[in-house]
Amino acid sequence: MDPLIEVRGLRFRYDDGTLALDGVDFQLFPGETVAVLGPNGSGKTTFVHHLNGLLAGEGFVSVCGLPAIKANLPAIRQKVGLVFQDSDEQLFMPTVIEDVAFGPLNRGLEASAAIEAAMRALRGVGLEALAGRAPYHLSAGEKKRVALAGILAMEPEILVLDEPTTFLDPPAQRDLAALLGRLPQAKLIVTHYAPFARALARRAVFFEKGRIVADGPVDEVVERFQWIPGTAPASATGTGSGE
Ligand SMILES: Nc1ncnc2c1ncn2[C@@H]1O[C@H](COP(=O)(O)OP(=O)(O)O)[C@@H](O)[C@H]1O
Ligand SMILES: [Mg+2]
Repeated sequence: MDPLIEVRGLRFRYDDGTLALDGVDFQLFPGETVAVLGPNGSGKTTFVHHLNGLLAGEGFVSVCGLPAIKANLPAIRQKVGLVFQDSDEQLFMPTVIEDVAFGPLNRGLEASAAIEAAMRALRGVGLEALAGRAPYHLSAGEKKRVALAGILAMEPEILVLDEPTTFLDPPAQRDLAALLGRLPQAKLIVTHYAPFARALARRAVFFEKGRIVADGPVDEVVERFQWIPGTAPASATGTGSGE
Protein backbone atom coordinates (compact mmCIF):
# COMPACT_ATOMS: atom_id res chain seq x y z
CA MET A 1 0.00 0.00 0.00
CA ASP A 2 1.36 3.44 -0.89
CA PRO A 3 1.75 5.79 2.07
CA LEU A 4 -0.43 8.90 2.26
CA ILE A 5 2.46 10.79 3.77
CA GLU A 6 6.10 9.97 3.22
CA VAL A 7 8.97 11.83 4.88
CA ARG A 8 12.63 10.95 4.44
CA GLY A 9 15.68 12.56 5.99
CA LEU A 10 13.88 15.76 6.94
CA ARG A 11 16.08 18.43 8.54
CA PHE A 12 15.04 21.92 9.46
CA ARG A 13 16.86 24.80 11.08
CA TYR A 14 15.11 28.00 12.20
CA ASP A 15 16.61 31.34 11.20
CA ASP A 16 18.16 31.77 14.65
CA GLY A 17 20.20 28.60 14.12
CA THR A 18 18.06 26.18 16.17
CA LEU A 19 18.16 22.74 14.59
CA ALA A 20 14.54 21.64 15.14
CA LEU A 21 14.44 18.53 12.92
CA ASP A 22 17.52 16.38 12.59
CA GLY A 23 16.74 13.61 10.09
CA VAL A 24 13.10 12.53 10.38
CA ASP A 25 11.75 9.48 8.51
CA PHE A 26 8.03 8.80 8.70
CA GLN A 27 5.18 7.21 6.79
CA LEU A 28 1.44 7.47 7.34
CA PHE A 29 -0.71 4.82 5.68
CA PRO A 30 -4.37 4.99 4.64
CA GLY A 31 -6.77 4.47 7.54
CA GLU A 32 -4.13 4.95 10.24
CA THR A 33 -4.27 7.20 13.27
CA VAL A 34 -0.81 7.88 14.65
CA ALA A 35 -0.07 9.70 17.90
CA VAL A 36 2.95 12.02 17.88
CA LEU A 37 4.45 12.08 21.36
CA GLY A 38 7.53 13.68 22.87
CA PRO A 39 8.66 16.39 25.27
CA ASN A 40 8.35 20.13 24.73
CA GLY A 41 10.72 21.43 22.12
CA SER A 42 11.39 18.02 20.56
CA GLY A 43 10.21 19.15 17.11
CA LYS A 44 6.61 17.92 16.91
CA THR A 45 5.07 21.20 15.76
CA THR A 46 7.94 21.91 13.38
CA PHE A 47 7.40 18.44 11.90
CA VAL A 48 3.65 18.78 11.32
CA HIS A 49 4.13 22.24 9.80
CA HIS A 50 6.13 20.52 7.05
CA LEU A 51 3.17 18.33 6.12
CA ASN A 52 1.21 21.07 4.41
CA GLY A 53 4.05 23.29 3.33
CA LEU A 54 3.96 25.88 6.13
CA LEU A 55 7.65 25.10 6.55
CA ALA A 56 10.08 23.55 4.09
CA GLY A 57 13.32 21.94 5.22
CA GLU A 58 15.94 19.73 3.60
CA GLY A 59 14.90 16.22 2.72
CA PHE A 60 11.89 14.62 1.11
CA VAL A 61 8.20 15.11 1.92
CA SER A 62 5.32 13.84 -0.18
CA VAL A 63 1.56 13.77 0.36
CA CYS A 64 -0.67 11.40 -1.60
CA GLY A 65 2.21 10.88 -4.01
CA LEU A 66 2.77 14.61 -4.54
CA PRO A 67 6.26 15.87 -3.59
CA ALA A 68 5.98 18.98 -1.39
CA ILE A 69 7.31 21.41 -3.97
CA LYS A 70 5.81 24.83 -4.48
CA ALA A 71 3.71 23.83 -7.49
CA ASN A 72 2.00 21.09 -5.46
CA LEU A 73 1.28 23.11 -2.33
CA PRO A 74 -2.31 24.12 -3.18
CA ALA A 75 -3.21 20.46 -3.80
CA ILE A 76 -1.33 19.34 -0.68
CA ARG A 77 -3.06 21.94 1.49
CA GLN A 78 -6.40 20.60 0.32
CA LYS A 79 -5.39 17.04 1.22
CA VAL A 80 -3.86 17.76 4.62
CA GLY A 81 -6.09 19.61 7.08
CA LEU A 82 -3.96 21.09 9.86
CA VAL A 83 -5.67 22.09 13.11
CA PHE A 84 -3.39 24.47 15.02
CA GLN A 85 -2.72 24.12 18.71
CA ASP A 86 -4.18 27.55 19.40
CA SER A 87 -7.70 27.85 17.95
CA ASP A 88 -7.46 31.64 18.16
CA GLU A 89 -4.83 31.49 15.39
CA GLN A 90 -7.31 29.65 13.19
CA LEU A 91 -10.57 31.52 13.87
CA PHE A 92 -10.70 35.07 12.59
CA MET A 93 -14.10 35.77 11.03
CA PRO A 94 -16.95 37.57 12.84
CA THR A 95 -19.23 34.52 12.92
CA VAL A 96 -18.76 30.77 13.14
CA ILE A 97 -20.44 30.09 9.79
CA GLU A 98 -18.26 32.64 7.98
CA ASP A 99 -15.21 31.08 9.54
CA VAL A 100 -16.10 27.56 8.48
CA ALA A 101 -17.17 28.73 4.99
CA PHE A 102 -13.93 30.68 4.49
CA GLY A 103 -11.93 27.73 3.11
CA PRO A 104 -14.61 26.53 0.67
CA LEU A 105 -15.14 30.11 -0.56
CA ASN A 106 -11.41 30.50 -1.01
CA ARG A 107 -11.39 27.31 -3.03
CA GLY A 108 -13.82 28.92 -5.43
CA LEU A 109 -17.16 27.53 -4.34
CA GLU A 110 -20.25 29.69 -4.89
CA ALA A 111 -21.46 31.35 -1.68
CA SER A 112 -24.48 29.04 -1.36
CA ALA A 113 -22.38 25.90 -1.90
CA ALA A 114 -19.76 27.16 0.57
CA ILE A 115 -22.43 27.81 3.22
CA GLU A 116 -23.85 24.37 2.58
CA ALA A 117 -20.42 22.75 2.97
CA ALA A 118 -19.88 24.79 6.15
CA MET A 119 -23.23 23.78 7.65
CA ARG A 120 -22.51 20.14 6.84
CA ALA A 121 -19.14 20.40 8.58
CA LEU A 122 -20.72 22.14 11.59
CA ARG A 123 -23.32 19.38 11.85
CA GLY A 124 -20.45 16.90 11.72
CA VAL A 125 -18.93 18.41 14.86
CA GLY A 126 -22.32 18.91 16.54
CA LEU A 127 -22.25 22.71 16.47
CA GLU A 128 -24.79 23.77 13.86
CA ALA A 129 -26.65 25.70 16.57
CA LEU A 130 -23.63 28.00 16.98
CA ALA A 131 -23.45 29.06 13.32
CA GLY A 132 -24.37 32.69 14.01
CA ARG A 133 -22.21 33.13 17.11
CA ALA A 134 -18.88 34.96 17.33
CA PRO A 135 -16.01 32.43 17.57
CA TYR A 136 -14.26 34.74 20.01
CA HIS A 137 -16.88 34.11 22.71
CA LEU A 138 -17.02 30.32 22.51
CA SER A 139 -15.53 27.89 25.03
CA ALA A 140 -12.15 26.33 24.26
CA GLY A 141 -13.83 23.03 23.38
CA GLU A 142 -16.30 24.73 21.04
CA LYS A 143 -13.52 26.75 19.40
CA LYS A 144 -11.54 23.57 18.76
CA ARG A 145 -14.55 21.94 17.12
CA VAL A 146 -15.24 25.03 15.00
CA ALA A 147 -11.60 25.03 13.86
CA LEU A 148 -11.99 21.33 13.04
CA ALA A 149 -15.19 22.05 11.12
CA GLY A 150 -13.33 24.67 9.07
CA ILE A 151 -10.84 21.98 8.14
CA LEU A 152 -13.49 19.30 7.47
CA ALA A 153 -15.35 21.70 5.15
CA MET A 154 -12.33 21.40 2.83
CA GLU A 155 -12.82 17.62 2.68
CA PRO A 156 -9.20 16.69 3.46
CA GLU A 157 -7.89 13.14 3.19
CA ILE A 158 -5.61 13.52 6.20
CA LEU A 159 -6.21 15.34 9.49
CA VAL A 160 -3.27 16.68 11.47
CA LEU A 161 -4.03 18.03 14.93
CA ASP A 162 -1.37 19.80 17.00
CA GLU A 163 -2.05 19.24 20.71
CA PRO A 164 -5.81 19.50 20.32
CA THR A 165 -6.54 19.02 24.03
CA THR A 166 -4.63 22.13 25.11
CA PHE A 167 -7.02 24.45 27.02
CA LEU A 168 -9.74 21.73 27.08
CA ASP A 169 -11.17 20.44 30.35
CA PRO A 170 -11.60 16.64 30.78
CA PRO A 171 -15.23 16.48 29.51
CA ALA A 172 -14.30 18.53 26.44
CA GLN A 173 -11.27 16.26 25.89
CA ARG A 174 -13.53 13.21 25.98
CA ASP A 175 -16.02 14.82 23.57
CA LEU A 176 -13.18 15.64 21.19
CA ALA A 177 -11.76 12.11 21.39
CA ALA A 178 -15.20 10.65 20.61
CA LEU A 179 -15.66 13.04 17.70
CA LEU A 180 -12.21 12.35 16.24
CA GLY A 181 -12.77 8.62 16.65
CA ARG A 182 -15.81 8.84 14.38
CA LEU A 183 -14.02 10.69 11.57
CA PRO A 184 -12.90 8.42 8.73
CA GLN A 185 -9.74 10.30 7.70
CA ALA A 186 -6.21 9.12 8.42
CA LYS A 187 -4.96 11.17 11.36
CA LEU A 188 -1.79 12.41 12.92
CA ILE A 189 -2.40 13.65 16.45
CA VAL A 190 0.29 15.51 18.37
CA THR A 191 -0.46 15.20 22.05
CA HIS A 192 1.07 15.59 25.47
CA TYR A 193 -1.57 13.38 26.93
CA ALA A 194 -1.06 9.61 26.91
CA PRO A 195 -4.71 8.62 27.61
CA PHE A 196 -5.82 10.72 24.65
CA ALA A 197 -3.19 9.07 22.45
CA ARG A 198 -4.28 5.62 23.64
CA ALA A 199 -7.94 6.39 23.05
CA LEU A 200 -7.41 7.28 19.41
CA ALA A 201 -4.25 5.74 18.03
CA ARG A 202 -2.87 2.23 17.66
CA ARG A 203 0.56 3.46 16.59
CA ALA A 204 2.71 6.20 18.09
CA VAL A 205 5.98 7.90 17.25
CA PHE A 206 8.12 9.56 19.90
CA PHE A 207 10.15 12.68 19.14
CA GLU A 208 13.33 13.55 20.96
CA LYS A 209 15.70 16.35 19.95
CA GLY A 210 14.36 16.60 16.42
CA ARG A 211 14.35 12.87 15.67
CA ILE A 212 11.83 10.07 15.86
CA VAL A 213 13.38 7.72 18.42
CA ALA A 214 10.52 5.22 18.65
CA ASP A 215 7.77 4.09 16.30
CA GLY A 216 5.39 1.29 17.25
CA PRO A 217 2.23 0.32 19.12
CA VAL A 218 1.08 3.23 21.26
CA ASP A 219 1.17 1.25 24.53
CA GLU A 220 4.73 0.13 23.93
CA VAL A 221 5.93 3.60 23.02
CA VAL A 222 4.28 5.20 26.06
CA GLU A 223 5.60 2.43 28.31
CA ARG A 224 9.12 2.50 26.94
CA PHE A 225 9.52 6.17 27.69
CA GLN A 226 7.73 5.95 31.03
CA TRP A 227 6.12 8.99 29.74
CA ILE A 228 4.37 11.34 32.11
CA PRO A 229 2.90 14.49 30.59
CA GLY A 230 5.10 17.52 31.05
CA THR A 231 8.24 15.64 32.03
CA ALA A 232 11.18 14.56 29.95
CA PRO A 233 11.16 10.85 29.18
CA ALA A 234 13.54 8.70 31.21
CA SER A 235 15.69 7.99 28.17
CA ALA A 236 16.48 11.69 27.79
CA THR A 237 18.07 11.86 31.24
CA GLY A 238 20.09 8.69 30.84
CA THR A 239 18.18 6.90 33.61
CA GLY A 240 16.05 4.75 31.34
CA SER A 241 15.67 1.17 32.49
CA GLY A 242 14.52 -2.06 30.95
CA GLU A 243 16.47 -1.69 27.69
N1 LIG B 1 9.95 30.17 15.38
C1 LIG B 1 11.00 29.57 15.96
N2 LIG B 1 12.24 30.13 15.91
C2 LIG B 1 13.29 29.52 16.48
N3 LIG B 1 13.24 28.34 17.11
C3 LIG B 1 12.04 27.74 17.19
C4 LIG B 1 10.86 28.32 16.63
N4 LIG B 1 9.82 27.49 16.86
C5 LIG B 1 10.33 26.45 17.54
N5 LIG B 1 11.66 26.59 17.73
C6 LIG B 1 12.57 25.65 18.41
O1 LIG B 1 12.59 24.46 17.65
C7 LIG B 1 12.61 23.32 18.49
C8 LIG B 1 11.39 22.47 18.23
O2 LIG B 1 10.23 23.20 18.59
P1 LIG B 1 8.77 22.68 18.33
O3 LIG B 1 8.69 22.08 16.98
O4 LIG B 1 7.84 23.79 18.65
O5 LIG B 1 8.65 21.51 19.43
P2 LIG B 1 7.39 20.84 20.10
O6 LIG B 1 6.20 21.12 19.24
O7 LIG B 1 7.76 19.39 20.18
O8 LIG B 1 7.26 21.44 21.47
C9 LIG B 1 12.70 23.88 19.91
O9 LIG B 1 14.04 23.95 20.28
C10 LIG B 1 12.11 25.27 19.78
O10 LIG B 1 12.61 26.11 20.76
MG1 LIG C 1 4.39 22.04 19.71
